Amino acid sequence: MKLKDTQALTSFKYGWLLKRIFPYIKPVMGRVILGFFIAIPVGLLDGVVSFALKPYMDYVVGQQNLIICGFEIPYSILAIAMPFAIIGFALFQGVLRYLNSYFTDWTSLKITNAVKIDLFSRLIYMDTSFFDENSSGIIINRYLTDPDFASKGIVEQIKTLIISIFGAASLIVVMLYSSWKLAVVGVLVLTIAFMPVLLIRKKIKSVSNKNTVITGDITTTINETYSGNKVVTAYNLQDRQMKNFIDDINKSFNVSISLTKRVGWMSPLMYLIASFGIAFVLYYGTKLIYTGQMTAGSFASFVTSLLLLYKPVKTLGNTLTSIQTIFVAMGRVFELFDYVPLIKNKQNTVNVPVLTKNISFENVTFSYNDNYTVLSNINLTVKIGETIAIVGNSGGGKSTLVNLIPRFYDVKDGAIKFDGIDIRDFNLSDLRDSISIVFQDNFLFTGTIKENIMLAKPQATEEELQIALETSHLTEVIESLPDGINTFLGERGLTLSGGQRQRVAIARAMIRNTPIIILDEATSALDNESEAVVQKALDNLMKNKTVFVIAHRLSTIKNADRIAVINDGKLVELGTHAELMSINNGQYKHLYEMQFSKEGTKVL
Ligand SMILES: Nc1ncnc2c1ncn2[C@@H]1O[C@H](COP(=O)(O)OP(=O)(O)OP(=O)(O)O)[C@@H](O)[C@H]1O
Ligand SMILES: [Mg+2]
Repeated sequence: MKLKDTQALTSFKYGWLLKRIFPYIKPVMGRVILGFFIAIPVGLLDGVVSFALKPYMDYVVGQQNLIICGFEIPYSILAIAMPFAIIGFALFQGVLRYLNSYFTDWTSLKITNAVKIDLFSRLIYMDTSFFDENSSGIIINRYLTDPDFASKGIVEQIKTLIISIFGAASLIVVMLYSSWKLAVVGVLVLTIAFMPVLLIRKKIKSVSNKNTVITGDITTTINETYSGNKVVTAYNLQDRQMKNFIDDINKSFNVSISLTKRVGWMSPLMYLIASFGIAFVLYYGTKLIYTGQMTAGSFASFVTSLLLLYKPVKTLGNTLTSIQTIFVAMGRVFELFDYVPLIKNKQNTVNVPVLTKNISFENVTFSYNDNYTVLSNINLTVKIGETIAIVGNSGGGKSTLVNLIPRFYDVKDGAIKFDGIDIRDFNLSDLRDSISIVFQDNFLFTGTIKENIMLAKPQATEEELQIALETSHLTEVIESLPDGINTFLGERGLTLSGGQRQRVAIARAMIRNTPIIILDEATSALDNESEAVVQKALDNLMKNKTVFVIAHRLSTIKNADRIAVINDGKLVELGTHAELMSINNGQYKHLYEMQFSKEGTKVL
C-alpha cells in the first residue's frame, strides 16, 4: 500500500465519485440545495442588464413611450426608472451572492470535515507496515490536503458552475429574444470554443497525481529537518536539506508548468474562436439592421449579451478544468477509503481468556518483504508466568519476533497461539489490552509526564500511579523537576533524558498491569545503578506475568527462567543459563564469552 503509487483510477468515473461523496453531502443537503438555488438567480440576473438595454435603446434613446398591457409608460419616466432599477438589481444580486457564499462555505467546510474525520478514523487503525512504507509528508498530503481540496472544491465549483451556466443561459435567452439567428451562431461558436477542455483531462490527472507525491516529499523534507535537526546541525547537512528541498520545488515547478504549456493555449484559442463569432455577428447583425429585420436596440442588447457572455463562459472553462483536478483529488481520497489495513479483526473474534497454559510460536516464518526471510520456522513455547529472555545477533530478528505478539505484523506462515488459540482469532484491541510493551525508543506525547503515564490506563487510581512511579524508579526524577509529575514534555517528549524517557515508558507499561509484558531493550538507556533498581522492581511486577525480555545485560538475562537465542532469524538454542553454558561451542556460550564476561564480572 504505497501511497506514492497512486493511480486515482476512478478520476473520470464522475458518477461513481459523486455517489461516494454523497453520504457526506447528505447531512447538509438542505443547505447545499438552498445555496444552489440561490446561485440560480445570481446567474440569471446577469442577463437583466443586457436585457434592459433593448427597451432603453428602443424607447428611451428612441424617445418612444412603452406600452405594456394597454398601459402607456412615458419614456421620460423610463429614463429615470431604469438606472435605479439596475442599481436595485445589483443590490439584490449582491445580497444573494452573500447568502450564496455563506451557504457554500458552510456546507463545504462541513463536508470536508466529515471526510477528514472519516479518513483519520481509518488512518489511526492502519497497520504498522503501512507506516513503515509511507513517509509522513505523503500521509499529511493524502489525509489532510487532498480531502480539503477535493470536498471543499466540489461544492464551490458546482456553485460556480451553476452561476455560470444560468448566467450564460440567461444571456443566451436575451440573445435569442433579440435575434435567434445571431444567437444560434453565437452558441455554435461557443460550443466549438469549449472542445479543447475535454482533451486535457488525462494530462490534468497525471500532473495532479505527480504533484501530490512531490508535495508529500517536500513536507517530508520539512518534517525531517524538524525531527532530525540535531543530526542536520551536527553533520552540517543544511546544504543537503536545501538541495532536497530545491530539487523537489523544481520538480513541482516542471510538472506544473508542463500543464500550463498544455492548458495555457486554451484560453487564447477560445478567445480567437470567440472573436470569429463576434466578427461574424457584427457583420451579419449590421445586415439585419439595414434590411429592417432587427432594431438597433435589439442589436445593442444582443452584442452586450454576447460580450457579457464571455465572462461566465470563461469561468465555465476554468471551472471544468478545476472540477477535473478536484475529481482526481476525489479519486485519490476514495482510493484511501478502499485501503483495508492488512491487520484487522476477522469475523467472529473472541476476547483473550485468562491464560493458564502457554504462549506458543508454531513454525513461525516471517518476512517484511518477499525477497528476505527475517524469521524462519520458529518453534517456541513459553509457559504462562515464565520470563523468557531473547538474545542474539543484531538484526537477527528479536524485535521482529516480539512485534508479532501484539500483531504489529502477521506471521507469513505458522501461527502464534495463546492457550492453543491462534492470536488472529482474538479481537485486536482485546489482544493489545493484554500486552504491555516498552520499546527501546519510546514515543512520548506532547503533554505532562502524568498524562503520558495515565494514558495507558485513564481510570488508574492515585495508588496505582504511585506504584508505577516507584517501580520505574521515576519518583526521584519527578522530585527534581520544578513542576514534578505535571512537567510538560515537548513534542516527542524531548525535554527528558533518554533514561528518564525510558522510565516514563516503563511506568506507562506498568500501570496497565497486563498479563503479558514485552520489554525490548527496555532498560538499555539506564545506568548500571538505576538499571539494577528498576530491574529489581520489574522482577517484582513480573511475578505471575508472562514476560518476553530482550536485553544485552547479563543480570537481566540470568534472572530469566529460560533464554532463547535467535541468530539470523533462527531459534538456535533454548534453555536455562546453566543449560546453555554447558553446551560445548554453544552460541550462547560464545555470545556470553564475547559480550557478557567483562560486564558480568562488573555487575555481579
Ligand atoms: N519495518 C521493517 N521493514 C523491513 N525490514 C525490517 C523492518 N524492521 C526490521 N527489518 C529487518 O529485519 C531484520 C530483523 O530486525 P530486528 O529489528 O528484528 O532485529 P533485532 O534482532 O531486534 O536487532 P537489534 O538487536 O539490533 O535490535 C533486520 O534485517 C532488519 O533490517
Ligand atoms: Mg531490536
